[in-house]
Amino acid sequence: MKGIQNHVRCYLLNIIARILLRLPIGGHRRERPIGSCCFASREPEVSSAAKPGTADRKSFTVFDIWEKLGVTEHLGGVKATRRLIDLCGIVPGQFVLDIGCGTGYTACLLAKEYGANVVAADISPKVLEWARKRIAREGVGAAVKTTEANAEDLSFLDDSFDCVIAESVLIHCDPEKALPELHRVLKPGGTLGANETTFLKPPPSELMELLRGSSLGGKIGALQEHEWLAALKVAGFKDTSSTVSKLDLTGQFVDHLRVDGVRRYVSALVRGLLDPAMSGPFLNRRMIGAWREYPAYVGYGLYVGKKV
Ligand SMILES: C[S@@+](CC[C@H](N)C(=O)[O-])C[C@H]1O[C@@H](n2cnc3c(N)ncnc32)[C@H](O)[C@@H]1O
Repeated sequence: MKGIQNHVRCYLLNIIARILLRLPIGGHRRERPIGSCCFASREPEVSSAAKPGTADRKSFTVFDIWEKLGVTEHLGGVKATRRLIDLCGIVPGQFVLDIGCGTGYTACLLAKEYGANVVAADISPKVLEWARKRIAREGVGAAVKTTEANAEDLSFLDDSFDCVIAESVLIHCDPEKALPELHRVLKPGGTLGANETTFLKPPPSELMELLRGSSLGGKIGALQEHEWLAALKVAGFKDTSSTVSKLDLTGQFVDHLRVDGVRRYVSALVRGLLDPAMSGPFLNRRMIGAWREYPAYVGYGLYVGKKV
């Protein structure tokens, strides 16, 4: 009986942790139509030369979790989002791209509290459906447009945005492709603000190996702080800065309840638990054992860089 209880406890802890941490596993590219966004003036335009991504998702991936549960967030929660926005110095009327917008929390916040015109873009059409629902609920449809977009191959014209926000997105991309794209679509003088999972110290090889070989497949996209900064510089960003923080799991959990609402978040958790395709890949001794190591190794970093 005790064994079963322990197993159930581990199961619940693990799935909650996975959902909270958005562990950096895998990434996929998909066919996407050329998006369109329609602000009244100085609207960021879409290049007709944009190339579609390739659909190569073969089996269940972490994307299914975001798409089915609709509770995509990032490490550090709302506190980190507000800090990132402040670091970027976003002011009313600016055009902001929220790339990998997930369920659209940040896009709505940017419109409501910061007066920004936002393009909320994500590679996943299903995730965008969640975002559209939130935008409608929050009544910010005039200021927030949604579009499908692949951070590695954006359809926006050069010099389109005053700011690009990327929260927990680059870890699922190839930063060598995505960062130059984010740089390209920024206006000269524009700012990139990224919140990305950051290794606080070099991760042990067993941990890297485990995640690489996990049943969700794919690569570990997290880097150490100096590696993220180097990637920004290689992509052409100047005046780069960073602040790295440890995880606050309790704060993160409370934040989820606040952002998604208790009912929506709990119902997502239950749906996740009841779906073996979603919970199964996480429920094995190796994954649970590795999770116990994460707090020591995983944090998040706020990275800011300018296009000059
Ligand atoms: C961990 S979620 C973060 C969502 C949101 N930024 C947030 O903080 O709540 C990662 C999001 O990035 C999107 N994504 C992953 N790869 C992408 C890519 N190459 N281009 C655009 N979006 C991508 C996923 O569909 C997902 O919605």
